[in-house]
Amino acid sequence: MEKKNILVLTGSPRRNGNSERMADAFIKGAQAAEHEVTKFESARKEIGGCKACGTCWSKGRPCSFPDDFAELAPLLEAADVLVFATPLYWYSFPAQIKAAIDKIYPYLADSCQRPLKIKESLLLVCGADGDMKMFDGIIATYREIAGFMNWADKGVLAVPNIIEKGDNEATDALGRAEELGKSL
Ligand SMILES: Cc1cc2nc3c(=O)[nH]c(=O)nc-3n(C[C@H](O)[C@H](O)[C@H](O)COP(=O)(O)O)c2cc1C
Repeated sequence: MEKKNILVLTGSPRRNGNSERMADAFIKGAQAAEHEVTKFESARKEIGGCKACGTCWSKGRPCSFPDDFAELAPLLEAADVLVFATPLYWYSFPAQIKAAIDKIYPYLADSCQRPLKIKESLLLVCGADGDMKMFDGIIATYREIAGFMNWADKGVLAVPNIIEKGDNEATDALGRAEELGKSL
């Protein structure tokens, strides 16, 4: 089987929280399948939103502003697969991971110096509410991004009724995340 370079981008500020447990279960599966995995915790970093300055790559790096996206950029550039592992915040992505997503913008610019080679993506998301409809917004956003970027969607795992840290230990969410990791 082809060895893939997988980047797992997490969205929660909670250490060892529910979405991080899903990320770690996914990573366990992907490593068992002998893929190379890197985890980047966007909420542990300082990444500002895109300022739409239009100066992408003018300083030889994707974003002209010196923030922690400089650490994420080489990981994105090396990745074959991008995984979003996040809690649901206000029916969408938390601000920290959304800022990282916004800064993928330079890779669409004509001036792009190092195009992404990501071919596949996944979404792992949990939320407190019990109604699956609450995930419609984040899933639609994820699918539109993947479609626009020509990333093949390799799976969406959306888990409801997950509130306190560790709530997903009592569900099949971690096993399903691990299986998704193995399936790549
Ligand atoms: C700022 C904030 C916004 C949230 N918004 C939603 C929401 O819109 N829908 C929902 O079901 N849960 C919402 N939640 C609950 C979290 O998604 C839920 O507790 C999740 O399990 C946290 O995952 P984590 O442990 O990985 O941080 C919100 C939590 C916070 C702190």
